[in-house]
Amino acid sequence: MRDRRLTALPARHARADRTPSRRPRTWHLSALTALLAFATALPATAATLARIASPGDVLTVTLESQHEDRLAYRVERKGTPVIAPSRLGFVLGDGRLERNLELVGQSSRSVDQTWEQPWGERRLTRNRYNELRARFAEKPVDARHPGRRIDLVFRVYDDGIGFRYEFPEQAAKEVRIRQELTEFALADAARTTAWWIPAFEWNREEYLYSRTPLQQIGTAQTPLTLRTGDGLHVSIHEAALVDYAGMNLARGDGDVLRAALTPGNDHSAPVVRATPFTTPWRTIQVGERAGDLAQSSLILNLNEPNAIGDVSWFTPAKYVGVWWSLHLETETWGTGPKHGATTANTRRYIDFAAANGFRGVLVEGWNPGWDGNWFANGWGFDFTRATPDFDLEGLAKYAAGKGVHLVGHHETACAVSHYERQLPAALDLYARNGVDVVKTGYVCDAGDIQRQDRAGGPVVREWHEGQWMSNHHLRVLEAAAKRHVAVNSHEPIKDTGLRRTYPNWVSREGARGMEFAAWGNPPNPPEHEATLVFTRMLAGPMDFTPGIVSLKGRNGQLLRSTLAKQLALYVVLYSPIQMVADLPEHYAEHPDAFRFIQDVAVDWEESVVVDGEVGEYATIARKVRGGDAWFLGSVGDDRPRSLRTPLSFLEPGRRYRAEIYRDGAGADWEKNPFAFVRETREVGRDDVLTLELGRGGGQAIRFVPL
Ligand code: NOJ
Ligand code: CA
Repeated sequence: MRDRRLTALPARHARADRTPSRRPRTWHLSALTALLAFATALPATAATLARIASPGDVLTVTLESQHEDRLAYRVERKGTPVIAPSRLGFVLGDGRLERNLELVGQSSRSVDQTWEQPWGERRLTRNRYNELRARFAEKPVDARHPGRRIDLVFRVYDDGIGFRYEFPEQAAKEVRIRQELTEFALADAARTTAWWIPAFEWNREEYLYSRTPLQQIGTAQTPLTLRTGDGLHVSIHEAALVDYAGMNLARGDGDVLRAALTPGNDHSAPVVRATPFTTPWRTIQVGERAGDLAQSSLILNLNEPNAIGDVSWFTPAKYVGVWWSLHLETETWGTGPKHGATTANTRRYIDFAAANGFRGVLVEGWNPGWDGNWFANGWGFDFTRATPDFDLEGLAKYAAGKGVHLVGHHETACAVSHYERQLPAALDLYARNGVDVVKTGYVCDAGDIQRQDRAGGPVVREWHEGQWMSNHHLRVLEAAAKRHVAVNSHEPIKDTGLRRTYPNWVSREGARGMEFAAWGNPPNPPEHEATLVFTRMLAGPMDFTPGIVSLKGRNGQLLRSTLAKQLALYVVLYSPIQMVADLPEHYAEHPDAFRFIQDVAVDWEESVVVDGEVGEYATIARKVRGGDAWFLGSVGDDRPRSLRTPLSFLEPGRRYRAEIYRDGAGADWEKNPFAFVRETREVGRDDVLTLELGRGGGQAIRFVPL
């Protein structure tokens, strides 16, 4: 499916060379103070090179030249400084590229187009921005610096900005990026709160979010979510991470956040590229409400259109599987008396899926390599055949007869080159057997990815978010797309919106999912999901694996969740594939709750972030794609909450039957998690519901037009 340009505005001159605004501004005192603060900090020589505003005049980016012809940009929202002057540049193999940069040309254009997602949280997305391209040449100062060239491109939207560096073709054929000097200096750093997870720690992205003053950030991963003293919400992330190292943010002098690229195996340069090339977009989303961040399509908009053609073969769907039992340790991945992936057990899951309208059955532990200490020996995995007690072909046929598809599983344990060598045959095997989604896995400590460029050669180590892995994932996606297979990566590289370009990259993990509720140490706290909505989920879909209606993990440990909250997660945490993660026998014990899991959709016409605060609560409504029903999910934290919720997202002039699945009186994840009510009411868009959430609570609603 290609982007459809519904409306094209004639290119007009950006406001690049005009004064900041044509209308008078009322300056808030705090804004003025902040402006004065950074204005005085500026070297006297700072000169404005260009300025560009968003289409609705909400955000403005100013590009300026500082002392010694260094470049900096700053961002204002309706006149309030959000990003103070922040430096741009690189440390390259042939010297720093940051001084003596001379503007040799600039151009601008406006774009307003609407494009269609083949599947997603909304069908139509408006991509409306003003773009500035500024071309720079380095003044040749000595023989070592032959006058390098670099372009800066800014796209300014009403809800955020993206900018990237473009290295045109030039004398140097190869560019070795030793570090990026991109800065993000929050104008209100001293009064800004951050929600962040640490970078470069062993457990990759699987950390609990810390909420601290910005001044206590060490090195954070992105997306990084911030709230300024004035209550503006900001997220810093990146879009289109292709053939480049993932960007982290390290707090430096003056509480400036600086890009810290993920290293590669060649420690002298995290990124090595041939010219011409572009970096990923560095993104800054800005909104008044926390919900504005979650509503924004900036990351997707900055990605390239679909590059793999028609993906109508991919069906958004729910799936069950031999999975939770493995984490409960009642079954094993390895062969033996407790082996989960047996033919008989898988048939049981296929029957359960067919009887309840679920399309997929995931089976982990189906292939040789799991026996013993599998995570220490990824080189033992065979992805081209099944264990003797698992009849792949027979099960695939059995499933097909019932309209069910097996969901594949490739756990690499980080022996990534070993996996790549088997990839064509492994995907052929799946494609032959009707497996059209594969869950991949990269379980190992951060920095321990094993790369071997030729069989028998040395094995070197890479990071999950390094340049080499960014390319690995694209190799998998391309091989999978050829065979009409979609990919759901666990322990992935972070999501940067590449599902727009590769719509077979349907989901991924990349945060603490439900599995932590099984293991504990510590389990996910009650506010975890209300934090994810405004942090991890800004990057893209997550395979969180909700629906643990038994509310217990290993050894009877309690989930920090009521029953109703497990249902709400299907709406709140978007993914086009959603696991129905609990054991079939547990669903049989909760038929009322199970009704919602059967009914809830996975593909949406529109999504509306109704309300929320980072780490406190989130309420999201979504309209089914190809239907008229709406769903709503709301999740809270460790406090009971009453949430006044106008239903203004519903269609005008229509009445709906609201099927409400809510916390019952006294619901509390610790003391009374199964207090649960299912009831119906007639409602319309002028009604306001009060959602009562218990501790660790939630609510899920299906609105069916009458
Ligand atoms: C970690 C994944 O997140 C989990 O879902 C999977 O079961 C194990 N790895 C084994 O691959
Ligand atoms: Ca994991």
